[in-house]
Amino acid sequence: MDFSQIRKFNHDLLSWFHENGRDLPWRKTKDPYYIWISEVMLQQTQVDTVIPYYQRFIDWFPTIRALADAPEERVLKSWEGLGYYSRARNLQSGVREVAEKYHGRLPDDKKQLLSIRGIGPYTAGALLSIAFDEPEPAVDGNVMRVMSRIFLIDEDIAKSGTKKQFEQIVQELIREADPRAFSQSLMDLGALICRPRNPLCPVCPVREFCGAYKEGVQSEYPVKSRKAGPVAKGYAILLLHDEKGNFLIEKRPEKGLLAGMWQFPMVPGTKKAAFTEAAEKISGQSVRLRKENFSCTHRFSHLIWELTLYSGTCRIPETMDETRRWLTLEDLAELPFPVPHQKVIQWINENRGT
Ligand code: ADE
Repeated sequence: MDFSQIRKFNHDLLSWFHENGRDLPWRKTKDPYYIWISEVMLQQTQVDTVIPYYQRFIDWFPTIRALADAPEERVLKSWEGLGYYSRARNLQSGVREVAEKYHGRLPDDKKQLLSIRGIGPYTAGALLSIAFDEPEPAVDGNVMRVMSRIFLIDEDIAKSGTKKQFEQIVQELIREADPRAFSQSLMDLGALICRPRNPLCPVCPVREFCGAYKEGVQSEYPVKSRKAGPVAKGYAILLLHDEKGNFLIEKRPEKGLLAGMWQFPMVPGTKKAAFTEAAEKISGQSVRLRKENFSCTHRFSHLIWELTLYSGTCRIPETMDETRRWLTLEDLAELPFPVPHQKVIQWINENRGT
């Protein structure tokens, strides 16, 4: 595109955005902290899912100081059900850095932003353009899809080096535009018009600039190699409890999948004998397990949990440490649990007394 085409492209895109852009809660503010929260939530989650989480999050943690001072468990609780929980932990670490190093104010300098935990090139670009009105590209998968179609870019967007090329293109366009509106208009174009499947090309405001539309090859873009599918793994969830309704729960390790969240003990495999052995080791007493009428499949991006449920009555174990608790249902509901374990809690509530 030459300079006059860039000007027309931006004009057409932004006129469309001003008429058709979505009215989203994080667009009512220019506060970089709120925009940061929204961008972190939106990284792996759909807008409709994010809205109530965003609203509750800013209600619970209205300032950088409030989030910096909050117990991590409370932050994970606010993220419960949203998935990719390391986003929440990294956001809180980043916010603590901002509280300490920058007196609680997010810097508007790219290098400083990139040095903050949890802020990568995409989030830095989103903050700079949306919160600080700086002409910096914010390139995610949606923007790569849009740009790959417009400019017929054949590069594999699943490869790590590809993003740079897209950032250069967006940088050239955004330089000539209102950055805050430009970034958000590309996001809305990707979500509303230039959708992954069945793009609405006939009503696209920039179709006259689109190589893929001209050649009728929209469905072939973006080029993306397939990742290996998720691997399935079977586990039993152990519901160890006493007659009074106390349950044994444990904290997951501080690193890795679902780090720092709470759960009922899980034992890999399919054999009841192995589950009994694990239950006896955990509780330090002999336990008779009963298979319950509960099953659940939970998909992560790289892994599928296939879960069954076994219950057993026991006394409070003698050896407990800070990673184990013996709590009533009411008390454990205050802690963050992964979704399949929340389903177990719901199952207990529905089957109490049976
Ligand atoms: N996806 C990523 N960031 C977004 C934003 N600010 N608005 C809408 N969708 C988005």
